Amino acid sequence: MSLDTTAIAMSAPPEAPAELVAWVSGVAELAQPDAIHWCDGSVAERDRLYEEMVASGTFVKLNQDLRPGCYLARSEPSDVARVEARTFICSEREEDAGPTNNWAEPAEMKRTLARVFAGSMRGRTMYVIPFSMGPLGGEISRLGIEITDSPYVVTNMRIMTRMGTPALAAIAAGADWVPAVHSVGYPLVDAEGNTRPDMTWPCSDEKYITHFPETREIWSYGSGYGGNALLGKKCYALRIASVLARDEGWLAEHMLILKVTSPQGRVFHLTAAFPSACGKTNLAMLRPTIPGWKVETVGDDIAWMRPGADGRLYAINPESGFFGVAPGTSEETNPTCLHALSRDTIFTNVALTDEGDVWWEGMTPEPPAHLIDWQGHDWTPGCGRPAAHPNSRFTVHASQAESISDDWEDPAGVPIDVILFGGRRARNVPLISESYDWEHGVFVGATVSSEQTAAAEGTVGSLRRDPFAMLPFCGYNMADYWTHWLRMGERLGDKAPRIFQVNWFRKDDQGHWLWPGFGENSRPIEWALRRVDGRAGAVDAISGRIPAPGELDTVGLDITAEQLEALFALDPDAWAAEADLTEEYFAQFGDKLPHELLDQLASLRARIEATR
Ligand code: GTP
Ligand code: SPV
Ligand code: MN
Repeated sequence: MSLDTTAIAMSAPPEAPAELVAWVSGVAELAQPDAIHWCDGSVAERDRLYEEMVASGTFVKLNQDLRPGCYLARSEPSDVARVEARTFICSEREEDAGPTNNWAEPAEMKRTLARVFAGSMRGRTMYVIPFSMGPLGGEISRLGIEITDSPYVVTNMRIMTRMGTPALAAIAAGADWVPAVHSVGYPLVDAEGNTRPDMTWPCSDEKYITHFPETREIWSYGSGYGGNALLGKKCYALRIASVLARDEGWLAEHMLILKVTSPQGRVFHLTAAFPSACGKTNLAMLRPTIPGWKVETVGDDIAWMRPGADGRLYAINPESGFFGVAPGTSEETNPTCLHALSRDTIFTNVALTDEGDVWWEGMTPEPPAHLIDWQGHDWTPGCGRPAAHPNSRFTVHASQAESISDDWEDPAGVPIDVILFGGRRARNVPLISESYDWEHGVFVGATVSSEQTAAAEGTVGSLRRDPFAMLPFCGYNMADYWTHWLRMGERLGDKAPRIFQVNWFRKDDQGHWLWPGFGENSRPIEWALRRVDGRAGAVDAISGRIPAPGELDTVGLDITAEQLEALFALDPDAWAAEADLTEEYFAQFGDKLPHELLDQLASLRARIEATR
């Protein structure tokens, strides 16, 4: 039995503006839910949803002595990561989506969406989630409304965004907002009125993650997982926001944000763009191994940056939580993160211990003798299957990280001194190198390649281009995005952050990591910050400026001279081959490719030849 227009209007809080109520009514008429709930963001509302999900089997309540306030969800095996092949940019013109995005004609996609959303919420409650990306009322912050039929999404959005009544009040006061509609695509009642039982993780085989950059709308169908369903994150804060940023002169980036304080008390802020599952959360919670340095967390996944009144670039973290990769998180690799997960955390697709606690690969050196794996099956060590899915994740409020910086919610943002670009590269790319200037930095960002991880469907380990770690997240033509970065550099002038490239993932010929990583990553970062201060020596090299001999602090580090040399080895033949691949890669952008990037390619080739 679906709702009529009067009932829908009656469900709305009194402050909801007519335009919003009309939009919600329209979605309800299409999707035909049984009930509508406007989320207030309260603890009582959260707890009620948690209880309902425990009752329905969507959530397993973990041992509350060991993990107070913690729950485990297990997804369908077909719904475990972002689906890039089903993600569409529906701009009016195909060239505005560009060669790296899937494009769909907007009117045609709207017809498809009208078909799949028709009755898609039958038998379910439709939740209306007002949310703010960024601190409420902040000048850089933005509002949105997500409609969803998934209580799992509601409770995750409550952690990841500022959700509820205050966001609705800001919309009522006249602020712009982005509409975002989500359905798992598993109605419980068909058009004839026949019912079927729910699944613990409802979803659909048919999936559409769609973005309309001109009208600034998001429609997502068929998946309940992560960036497919928590629409404030990749869909809004990156794909739609990148378009807003282009039009309004700012930057929406797939970057962590760090605050670093030197032993002398000088404060720096860094951002770093690494592809999905390449170490942003780890770096965001870095525990430096160099004495006297302090690192604090501002954000772990997304940065919105704009020039401030003083001409410097200021960044906010638009999110309020971390949706981070669980496997590999341990007392050794990221103790700060592990401690944050001790309470009030939603775990998805990790393993369950016999004590009602969680486990994942890499959490402890020895796995427990028995587990329930991420699919709900018995698991024993050596059974040949991973216990946790490689893209299993935790959702935790940012304030639970003891490393959280006191300026993480400053609505004005933090001034950025340094930008890092990185990826997983077994060869060629040195541990760290500094770009010669902003244009060179944009070239470095544009040419990032990385070995694919489990964060998206695809062949894990294959090398792919991931410019600015934005390949799956740029809402417009990638070449226009590069032009936008070049123009931003001109605007920032000598106030622009310095750009570095890093690679924690280089391997020797036997396939062993050359660099210990994690806390030791403070060493190359310390060199970068001394460069900013004019206190660190560098030598010009093919990839950029690398530390002069003895300038990278290796005191107390167990590393041989050969390993150190291998970390910075730059083979002209391998770089010449990469330059050829870059030329091929750039060719697909045709006339849109900014000439500055071709100039940079020529300079790179000249540097390669000069070393022969
Ligand atoms: P998204 O949330 O997907 O955007 O990714 P993220 O960049 O935040 O990824 P995350 O920090 O969760 O990456 C985790 C993976 O990177 C795990 O497999 C870690 O073991 C690995 N990792 C992180 N830092 C290092 C490092 O310094 N060295 C090595 N070798 N691996 C690292
Ligand atoms: C990523 O894949 O870059 C993530 C996880 O941060 S998700 O939110 O699922 O996109
Ligand atoms: Mn990410």
